[in-house]
Amino acid sequence: MSLTAKMSSLEHVKQSLERAGQDHVLRFWPELSEEDRDVFLQELVKLDLKGLKDHCTRAAKAAASTPRILDVDMDPVPPEFMGSVRKSDRKSLTEWEDEGLLHISRNRVGALLLAGGQGTRLGVQYPKGMYKVGLPSGKTLYQIQAERLHKIRELADGKHGSKCTVPWYIMTSEFTLAPTEKFFEENNYFGLEPSDIIMFEQRMIPAVTFDGKVILQGKGKIAMAPDGNGGLYQALVDNNILEDMKKRGVEYLHVYCVDNILVKMADPVFIGFCVTKGADCGAKVVEKSHPAEPVGVVCRVQGVPQVVEYSEIRLEMAELRGPGRELVYSAGNICNHFFTRTFLQDVSEKFQGQLKQHVAIKKVPFVDTCGSEVKPSKPNGIKMEKFVFDAFPFSRNFVVFEVIREDEFSPLKNAEGASTDTPTSARNSLFALHGRWATSVGAMLLDHHGNNIPPTASSESAGDCPPAQCEISPLVSYFGEGLEQLLKGKKLVTPFILDKKMAEKLQAQQHS
Ligand code: UTP
Repeated sequence: MSLTAKMSSLEHVKQSLERAGQDHVLRFWPELSEEDRDVFLQELVKLDLKGLKDHCTRAAKAAASTPRILDVDMDPVPPEFMGSVRKSDRKSLTEWEDEGLLHISRNRVGALLLAGGQGTRLGVQYPKGMYKVGLPSGKTLYQIQAERLHKIRELADGKHGSKCTVPWYIMTSEFTLAPTEKFFEENNYFGLEPSDIIMFEQRMIPAVTFDGKVILQGKGKIAMAPDGNGGLYQALVDNNILEDMKKRGVEYLHVYCVDNILVKMADPVFIGFCVTKGADCGAKVVEKSHPAEPVGVVCRVQGVPQVVEYSEIRLEMAELRGPGRELVYSAGNICNHFFTRTFLQDVSEKFQGQLKQHVAIKKVPFVDTCGSEVKPSKPNGIKMEKFVFDAFPFSRNFVVFEVIREDEFSPLKNAEGASTDTPTSARNSLFALHGRWATSVGAMLLDHHGNNIPPTASSESAGDCPPAQCEISPLVSYFGEGLEQLLKGKKLVTPFILDKKMAEKLQAQQHS
């Protein structure tokens, strides 16, 4: 940029900041080096300066307001729009699975990972998908997901004689894009075709103080945060992702969070259920563990599908029970969604402006008026976020699919030591599930003294007695299929890893 161009950009930025009541942003400008000024100016020019005033006022106002209570207008999703793994017969589940596998085999299904979050609670300096929860195989969350994609393609191909692909769209942010790209490259894309992995970046927005001022993280740096996983809809447009999907013939998307170690990538049963019902949008849910569990509830408000957060519902409503003593509002959201491509397109192109904004109060490092860097000990900043589920109200045919928590949901949110959703709980959930798969086909899990270890119903009941370390590679089995011929009657000393090599060995033993 020429000097004159730079001066005029700076003047424009200055005026815009003044108009927005944010002139403190340039407080340290005179102290910055020429190089730092260039970087800062580029950052400021990229900001939505016109919308800045609105953004700051809205954030401060939203943070000061008390949470809305929505439960007066709430209804559960009617049974005709619900499916359930627990309550459905084997025939229906098989039909949905077949339907899903058919669409996968015809290249109509894509997986879309939301991986732009900062993972502040887990507290590592790299993307959460690169985290190893301590499995005997040493696999990361990204690797587990990649291998499940491999396997589901293999199952679809095996059934339909196809050679299909399931493109993997990965939404990242400024924090996660570069390390994620590098990690995939270093790991040879986990054997997937690099052209089938499409990474794109969501937008960032400034964090704001309680009195509506943009937070300076450094003398020449604004504290920016990704705009929430609902930033997906803008990011799809910004990065021409919808065109890419169309070009590839992708009609159905499975959208999910990075941190669920049990996620069933492009789950054919879920996809088949949603497609059979003619849905444009669907949510997988698990039964809430107890009325006060802090998860959002998928329901209808004034007849419109949405997720009501736990802060928006009174306890007496959350505790409401039906005739069979079951919770009326039990559909816990697990950020595991089905969208048709055309629905994503509609939301991205027509309803963007109507998406809600949510307030997250966080500890945001900042520079004080003297220019010293401060790491706050208590929350000092507001990050405004959109949520992916805020598209639900725009659905014309919304369905819900209830799955079994122990089989499908165990998120990694917190660092070790927290009471829930830690690396240990994630690891134990996976061991417990794989242990159940093994014992259900007649294997016996043994400790190193040769004593039998009974299967664990869930990671929660593990408590003092963690489940046996049994890890089955997704390359061998996606949802427990194909294990009988390998494991029936086997005594497995734990830790036990059933990877491809071990599977081949066991198969050879069968034939000898
Ligand atoms: P969370 O709300 O759990 O946030 O994200 P997080 O960033 O992983 O963790 P904390 O709250 O900072 O500890 C749920 C999912 O949404 C994605 C995350 O990567 C995760 O898969 N996400 C979140 C985005 O893709 N973008 C965002 O702006 C925020």
